[in-house]
Amino acid sequence: MLLFGGVSSEHEVSRTSAASVLEHIDTDKYELIKVGITKEGRWMRTDADSEAIADGSWENLESNDDVYLLPGGGFAGIDVDVVFPLLHGRNGEDGRMQGFLAIAGIPFVGSDSTSSAACMDKAITKAVIDQAEVCEQAKCCIAHKGCDVEESSVVIGDFFEGKFPLFVKPANAGSSVGITKVKTFKELPEALRVAFAEDTKAIVEETIEGREMEVAVLGNGDPQASCVGEIISANEFYDYVAKYDDVGSETSIVTDLPYTLEDEIRETAVQIFQIMGCRGLARVDFFLRKGPSGTYDDGELVFNEINTMPGFTKISMYPQLWEESGIPYGQLIDTLIELAMEDE
Ligand SMILES: Nc1ncnc2c1ncn2[C@@H]1O[C@H](COP(=O)(O)OP(=O)(O)O)[C@@H](O)[C@H]1O
Ligand SMILES: [Mg+2]
Repeated sequence: MLLFGGVSSEHEVSRTSAASVLEHIDTDKYELIKVGITKEGRWMRTDADSEAIADGSWENLESNDDVYLLPGGGFAGIDVDVVFPLLHGRNGEDGRMQGFLAIAGIPFVGSDSTSSAACMDKAITKAVIDQAEVCEQAKCCIAHKGCDVEESSVVIGDFFEGKFPLFVKPANAGSSVGITKVKTFKELPEALRVAFAEDTKAIVEETIEGREMEVAVLGNGDPQASCVGEIISANEFYDYVAKYDDVGSETSIVTDLPYTLEDEIRETAVQIFQIMGCRGLARVDFFLRKGPSGTYDDGELVFNEINTMPGFTKISMYPQLWEESGIPYGQLIDTLIELAMEDE
């Protein structure tokens, strides 16, 4: 069963990912059941084609049927071997759906509820990775909704010793929603309000100057890392527009780094995947800052975030990295389904 949509700011991104999977999944091999979740949270089984899923018109089909989950008993009236919850962000990638599916007793693609929740929450991820001492991270502090944003801004300003720009992000969000690059002190309160519109917790980080690198990790007990990819954003940072609308943003495969550094990046990605308790897939995102030589050849790796259900269209970074590493999209989908059905 392919689950798509969801009550999330990344609802549209999920539909695009699902449409792409539908176009490339081996239909001889699987009896595919499609279930969409509207933005309001209604679950419906649908016959919609990939186009209707991509443009959202699937919701209006007469033939859609409501579906029901039974605790311990799977889906009422539908036999399901495995679920691919191709849902991003809140309610889909944050452990809630994973807990729900676990309670229903259905195997699913990706990490369990604990790992998903820990990876979704940037403040928790940072604390766990900090403790493990596997990689540098941006200096950061946390603010909670309900605080006086003006007063908190003063404390935050002091914490960073007046250094700007800073990045203000909701702890739980994705696709850059709710993120502001704050250049001066007076923009800080508003940036906190923007973040609190998405979540009750915000993190504030120093700005890391460097290249943005991403690694795809795949597997359960013995996870493997892909080659290293890079994002070159058309905008000042990789915001929602740069991610999905801006034709000027580029993703590419990194080929100019020394082999040892590339290997270190891949190895660190696997370590982070394991420390966070991930399963199946995750994309691990880093910054690479210039090293003492003034080049990236001895660059310092800074961990940014991990995504347990990364963008999954055929041209998204995660599938592209595997394509480049010898696993084509269709085969990647097969592998993820096999991994989901593997016993712990
Ligand atoms: N500390 C930082 N320094 C520099 N750029 C940052 C920093 N944090 C985030 N960014 C920029 O903002 C983008 C989105 O932030 P990220 O933490 O990846 O959130 P999301 O979960 O929304 O993708 C990053 O891809 C990067 O371009
Ligand atoms: Mg990101």
